[in-house]
Amino acid sequence: MLYVGIDLGTSAVKLLLMDGAGKIQKIVSKEYPIYFPHPGWSEQRPEDWYEQTMAGLAELFEGCDKSQVAGISFGGQMHGLVILDDQDQVIRPALLWNDGRTYEECDYLNNVIGREKLSEYTANISFTGFTAPKILWVKNKEPENFARIAKIMLPKDYIAYRLSGVHCTDVSDASGMLVFDVKNRCWSKEMLEICGVREEQMAKIFESYEAVGDILPEIAEQLGIPKTVKIVAGAGDNAAAAVGTGTVGDGMCNISLGTSGTIFISSKNFGVDKFNALHAFAHADGHYHLMGCMLSAASCNKWWMDDIIGTDDYAGQQAAIEKLGENHVYFLPYLMGERSPHNNPNARATFIGMTMDTTRADMTQAVLEGVAFALRDSLEVARALGIHIERTKICGGGAKSPLWKKIIANVLNLKVDVIESEEGPALGGAMLAAVACGEYASVEDAAAKLVHIIDTVEPDPALVEKYEARYAQFKEIYPACKPVFDVITANGK
Ligand code: XUL
Repeated sequence: MLYVGIDLGTSAVKLLLMDGAGKIQKIVSKEYPIYFPHPGWSEQRPEDWYEQTMAGLAELFEGCDKSQVAGISFGGQMHGLVILDDQDQVIRPALLWNDGRTYEECDYLNNVIGREKLSEYTANISFTGFTAPKILWVKNKEPENFARIAKIMLPKDYIAYRLSGVHCTDVSDASGMLVFDVKNRCWSKEMLEICGVREEQMAKIFESYEAVGDILPEIAEQLGIPKTVKIVAGAGDNAAAAVGTGTVGDGMCNISLGTSGTIFISSKNFGVDKFNALHAFAHADGHYHLMGCMLSAASCNKWWMDDIIGTDDYAGQQAAIEKLGENHVYFLPYLMGERSPHNNPNARATFIGMTMDTTRADMTQAVLEGVAFALRDSLEVARALGIHIERTKICGGGAKSPLWKKIIANVLNLKVDVIESEEGPALGGAMLAAVACGEYASVEDAAAKLVHIIDTVEPDPALVEKYEARYAQFKEIYPACKPVFDVITANGK
């Protein structure tokens, strides 16, 4: 049988076709625009996602035995607010996970409702990218749109709805809404009340590996696939990537270097740290996970290469980098503000430390290192909680660079296991579809059988030591710049 994983990303939707033995048959990618209507705001059109997903599916199925397609599932950008009216029409463009406009609503949630209550109800506190402050923003700033809301959905769930007709979500993605009781895997009545919404406006909750229903007959006909194809709930992109890299069960780690950068730690048990410094979410394997999320990771390198240097030869630029651990230039990677651990939408990206002899290669290196240092900030939070991590998997666009993997291994002092396929969320989505269709007994079973480590990047003690000193300096820069960020963003508003 054949299974499809749809990774509804921020710059593109990636679709992957996998057979029952886990062999990837084909991958298709389709881009769509992202809109930044104001500094720090970030929006997309759900209709663009749907059109490109359908175009991608048609291309994916070209030349394959369509009668063998059995299941379709998802990994999707998390936290985005999609609102539908009573005719299931999209009311306004979706507010995305990296949108920083909700600082007032976050302040209300964290400081008026209070972090303790939020943590008691949801296991998390509010960050600007989360969904609850977005619901409040629409309520406060666009009351006419708020009054029309019949359904509140997350990005990938909108696609699942268009394919199945079911208003559904899954536990991992719902965890990032701040209206979900993570421990008990259900909507939080208290949070729904705080946001002014009723439970019937929310989607039905599924485990990630559960089918929500069959594909709609008209969509099956349009794509030429069987009407029995199961649409499977899927997961937020980080949980789906964790499935795709075999980061399931207890104490496993995955780093995702996509538009965002995340450190994801799987756990069999529910747990929250007392400062809520890491997100405590439900996992797609039926258990839980902790996660730190930086808002701009591979996107910093893309911005530097595409928009500033003006090249698509990333490897060529990286080839000029010679001296690891000795760079005197630093880069704060906060192009969209920052979530973990600073929780500051006003943070900004910054180069610091240039001198007359600074080269373009030094600055390219600083971008790669700055992302690694910022990931280390989240890892340090996990370490401070007593979580011991020795090795990690890695996935996402940035993981294609051998140099970046080496920098990460040495800055974080972790063994980095490279897996056969770096297609994290799309592969994880296809694996969840295969589990729902009975091809594998469980998510852990699928991961054990399908994920293979092909190489390990070992940290080099001498380089780890050099980076230790660089990281100590990096840590000084954000606190020193923070007051300036506050002033320049206040003036820019
Ligand atoms: C996770 C997060 C990002 C998005 C990116 O909390 O906001 O990783 O899911 O797609």
